[in-house]
Amino acid sequence: MFLQCTLCGKKYAPDAVKYVCPDHGSDGILDVVYDYAEINRVTSPEKISASRENSIWRYWALLPLKDRGAVPPLQVGWTPLYRANFLGAQLGLNNLYLKDDGRNPTASFKDRASAVVVAKGRELGEKIITTASSGNAGAALAGCAASAHVPAVIFVPKTAPQAKVAQLLIFGARVFLVDGTYDEASDLCLAAAQEFNWYCRNTAYNPYTTEGKKTCALEICEQLAQNQKLVVSKAEPSKIENGKWLSPDRIFVSVGDGNIIGGIWKGLRDLYALGWIDKMPKLMGIQAEGSAACYNAWRAGTDAITPIEAHTIADSIDVGYPRDGRRAVHAVRETGGEFITVSDAEILDAMPQLARGEAVFAEPAAAATYAGLLKAAREQKLDRQEIIVAVITGNGLKDIRSAMQVAGQATTIEPTLEAVRNAMPRAETS
Ligand SMILES: Cc1ncc(COP(=O)(O)O)c(C=O)c1O
Ligand SMILES: [Zn+2]
Repeated sequence: MFLQCTLCGKKYAPDAVKYVCPDHGSDGILDVVYDYAEINRVTSPEKISASRENSIWRYWALLPLKDRGAVPPLQVGWTPLYRANFLGAQLGLNNLYLKDDGRNPTASFKDRASAVVVAKGRELGEKIITTASSGNAGAALAGCAASAHVPAVIFVPKTAPQAKVAQLLIFGARVFLVDGTYDEASDLCLAAAQEFNWYCRNTAYNPYTTEGKKTCALEICEQLAQNQKLVVSKAEPSKIENGKWLSPDRIFVSVGDGNIIGGIWKGLRDLYALGWIDKMPKLMGIQAEGSAACYNAWRAGTDAITPIEAHTIADSIDVGYPRDGRRAVHAVRETGGEFITVSDAEILDAMPQLARGEAVFAEPAAAATYAGLLKAAREQKLDRQEIIVAVITGNGLKDIRSAMQVAGQATTIEPTLEAVRNAMPRAETS
């Protein structure tokens, strides 16, 4: 295994560099590159699929860690992949799936990255781990750090939703509510980590967040193979070759910093390099209209990200300067996918649709994924037979204020049967 600068291609031994390429600073994000022949020698899709380890650690051979003892006990990953028959039928899609990552222990996708970084920090003997976050990455670090009893210091914008701040505090992290944007919190966290010698988990700075996030793609391909084996009929021969997993045709995911979509791309590239999947899915990056720096770069045909002043109700993707934007644009462009923007109204509208259609309660940034899928379907960009996965990145309980805007009204009544009868539509009481 070695680290490679995504800008200049220079290679480094893992213990030679801790964060980014010394020649390129924060632009020199490092990729972890594995010895794929060696991985194929020690494991296989069949061996992994026989594992009873229902967490990201089932993919140990594909992760950049040495010491199993460093792994935090919290159970991260192996979240459900639901076949969304109800919503699929509404949209004319025969093979729609939802990957419900709100089912992680701190209720977001970010647990995947934080678990790997906490394990890496413990391997390195780090005493304190820090991160900046719009909320979820911090909650995930606070949770994983609590489970391993490592102190954590978290920087979030002071506007972060209450539930996310409650998570940080209840896990015992030291919490700084920064009177500024997420981008400013990021810069401050980096400066503090350098000043006080803390281990920094910051997105697109620590190379191991991507390795944690890629596990979502590994799960999707493994779970799809299982699922398709169950649903493929005799009339429609299986698309799965023995000993392989199945990559979907498209994966939809919301984009803020761009580290999740970059991580999913990395997982797919690893599986492709191993020969465990036969094709790369098209990656569909969804951004809020008010926070669309990656979309702008993609549309302009460049990978240079121009910072913007971001504003969206979806706080987790409210990012003016995406730290991993270049990789996100590459992920979309090189897989032949697209960036799509959605308005805050479309994001809010998607929340009850997901909750009522498939009982998946998404926070706004996660509902944005589905809003983007709805838009793509409306614009007839999707083929009925395509296998499509929408990654739902965070649970709706994290931001009740947004949910209550679209959840509808409860009825307050006197404690009498009469009051219930009067409040009910006639057909439901007779
Ligand atoms: C729920 C949720 N969805 C999507 C994202 C976007 O991920 P990224 O910033 O890596 O693009 C985040 C990041 O905080 C998130 O918490
Ligand atoms: Zn470099």
